[in-house]
Amino acid sequence: MQNIYDSEEFRAQGHQIIDALADYLKSIEDGTLTEVIPYVEPEDSYDFWKNDLAEGQTGLMDFVNETIKRSNHLHHPKYMGHQVSAPSPVAALMGVVTGLLNNGGAVYEMGLVNNPLERVLSKYLAEKLGFGDESDGFLTSGGTLANLTALLAARAKYSSVWSEGTTEKLAIMVSEEAHYCVDRAARIMGLGESGIIKIPVNDRFKLKTELLEEYYQDATAKGFRVFAIIGSACSTSTGSYDNLQEIGEFAQKNNLWFHIDGAHGGAVAFSSKYKSLLKGVALADSIIIDWHKMLLAPALITAVVFKKGSDAYATFHQKAQYLWDNALSKDWFNSGKRTFECTKLMMSVKVYGMIKAHGDLIFEEHVDYLYDLAKTFANLIKSLNDFELGHEPEANIVCFRMKTENSNEINATIRRKLLEKGEFYIVSTTLNGDTYLRVSLMNQNTKVSDLESLLENIREIKSEL
Ligand SMILES: Cc1ncc(COP(=O)(O)O)c(C=O)c1O
Repeated sequence: MQNIYDSEEFRAQGHQIIDALADYLKSIEDGTLTEVIPYVEPEDSYDFWKNDLAEGQTGLMDFVNETIKRSNHLHHPKYMGHQVSAPSPVAALMGVVTGLLNNGGAVYEMGLVNNPLERVLSKYLAEKLGFGDESDGFLTSGGTLANLTALLAARAKYSSVWSEGTTEKLAIMVSEEAHYCVDRAARIMGLGESGIIKIPVNDRFKLKTELLEEYYQDATAKGFRVFAIIGSACSTSTGSYDNLQEIGEFAQKNNLWFHIDGAHGGAVAFSSKYKSLLKGVALADSIIIDWHKMLLAPALITAVVFKKGSDAYATFHQKAQYLWDNALSKDWFNSGKRTFECTKLMMSVKVYGMIKAHGDLIFEEHVDYLYDLAKTFANLIKSLNDFELGHEPEANIVCFRMKTENSNEINATIRRKLLEKGEFYIVSTTLNGDTYLRVSLMNQNTKVSDLESLLENIREIKSEL
């Protein structure tokens, strides 16, 4: 049998891999890597890897280099695509540490560092959010799962579905601009389409709070038991923050669970300048925040924070004689009692590593820089005759488009051509039925000059159509 645990071989491979990654970062720093996304058609990529496997054992470094070369380069200043961080290299190194230790246990004994650190980080976030001492939480694998986790806790407060099943018509209320995972969570919970009450948004893509009463009364009259209302902080398409204060007051008045999807924009809890976007957060029963979006961590790391920590135990209680003696005891140190995952990654170590290496000011600086940059970009767009802005940005997400005839078709073509050229990576979205180009400014190395160059590229593409 091969000795796969040879410590000296590991040391040598580790040095080689870190050197390759450092060279990669250097090539971005010095501008020699000019292509952000080396886009190839999916079938071609599949064929490449199929043939590569057929070649058998060809060495680790070839594979590492090929993987780097063929990936979307999130650390590149011209990456402005989806809302995934360009992770702090320190957090990536923590990924190596945690990958090797592999102590990602649902039970304390298998997560001696991870379980307490999750609690420390949850209480730390809770304090930033202005929740009191009773608050507690944990980390889970992504915003999608986190929203489902929080909504299951919400449902458990109002119904005994977990133990008894139900035929009751349960429902949630949410903005029509909320991320699709909230809709998915509700369907997984058996609410069906009719149990997802979508509230229209105003011209700033924020939930119209003035419609809440009417929609709520209508649902109740139809026999629905509305148990939760969800605020977006912020929405995905436009980065719009719902009016959390008014939603929270409505939830309190009607005894509903108030959950905030702060996957992207909850990060402003770290920013003195932008914190006010979360006004009303103190009224929430639960909030989720992705560390892997605006907080520099590698995917996936999502915080689920409950104002009343004990609410988190209302669901997931199950007998597991091989893990714990008592299914109902509220032991914070056995994280599997509150999460979907049994075995899970040692996520907390990656976040904690960043704080230890850099201090937590990095989060505030990062958020402030990117939110400011989006405003500068929006002002630039507004000053131009050949572009138009889709919305006034509150976050680091900006939707815009070229002013042209056949606008939807031409802007969609522009985005496709940008992808094929690979010098920039941006995405598109639909606002009020129209196609817009969309940037999420995720990278603190992106400068105004990169955005000017993006606009120049778009003009060039348009002129060649
Ligand atoms: C507002 C919002 N909620 C939830 C999610 C889903 O998070 P994840 O990709 O971590 O599952 C996203 C992803 O973009 C989002 O923007």
